[in-house]
Amino acid sequence: MQFSQYQDNEGSLDLYNYQAKSPFSQKHLLSLQDYSSDEICQVLSLGLKLKNQQRNRIPHKLLEGKILAMIFAKSSTRTRVSFEVGMTQLGGTPLFLSSSDIQLGRGETIADTARVLSRYVDGIMIRTYKQSDVEELAKHGSVPVINALTDLLHPCQALADMMTIYEAKGDWKGKKLAFLGDGNNMAHSLMIACSKLGMDFSIGCPEGYEPDEEITAMAKQNALSRGSSLEITHNPEKAAEKADVVYTDVWSSMGQESESEERKKAFAPYQVNSSLFALAKSDAIFLHCLPAQRGEEVTADIIDGPHSLVFDQAENRLHVQKAVLALLMK
Ligand code: CP
Ligand code: NVA
Repeated sequence: MQFSQYQDNEGSLDLYNYQAKSPFSQKHLLSLQDYSSDEICQVLSLGLKLKNQQRNRIPHKLLEGKILAMIFAKSSTRTRVSFEVGMTQLGGTPLFLSSSDIQLGRGETIADTARVLSRYVDGIMIRTYKQSDVEELAKHGSVPVINALTDLLHPCQALADMMTIYEAKGDWKGKKLAFLGDGNNMAHSLMIACSKLGMDFSIGCPEGYEPDEEITAMAKQNALSRGSSLEITHNPEKAAEKADVVYTDVWSSMGQESESEERKKAFAPYQVNSSLFALAKSDAIFLHCLPAQRGEEVTADIIDGPHSLVFDQAENRLHVQKAVLALLMK
């Protein structure tokens, strides 16, 4: 499979045809592990086309009249805004639902919420704590469900990241992504995305903060079949060495605020600063899903420096999620 097979002449782009003829058979986006490399490439390719359309102000109302419910049990800037804007640009309507304002927050079951929302809307996006809640929603509803972050995974962000890497480096194969910090939701989704697309992945994390064993085993299997490598090390220098992409995320994720002091101590040697970044390739790029804590996981000179593409990454959330929406809700 070649990513280039999905690239066509932008001038002859027929998005409506592309969407209708797409062999895409996924019903939901719960984890990128459910997607083949080919399906990930289809999403990324459509995302790049939609970015081009949006940049040129060419209308692409692929979801005219469709409605997306967006359930948030955690805070968000990028996810909320990019999904709302994206759905609107596609001609549909986003519906923001804070979980504390709907009956879900008072104990109505996920299953009943799924059944009820499926009678009103054409798709559901959810940001919550437990991955099993997202799976439960998909199981009991009859419309596509999109995982917009759980404690375990953040697939939409990893898609935007792979798109950003493609734009900067032209390919994933033979490139290395170094993730410095916590074996968290971001590390998990990146590990899956890299291993599916044949990119080498190395995480440098403190002892006791390694990625989930089940996710690691799946990613190792993916990497084996794609001929790429996957490394977990406690040595930050080894992880960063000769990396094409250096990535980090907050040391305390949403819901872990009470662990913040002990985490600051454990993660200090993994801070992405100029001396650690210098171990990466000279043309390495810096990525961060944001929000960032300058002075903790990354120093200001790196995140605000010339190698940083963090705002392209944030922009790409919009374009790649529009592709996900268009393919799942068509
Ligand atoms: N990266 C990301 O998901 O950001 P938000 O928490 O602002 O949505
Ligand atoms: N790991 C972070 C990602 C935020 C987008 C968190 O879960 O808070």
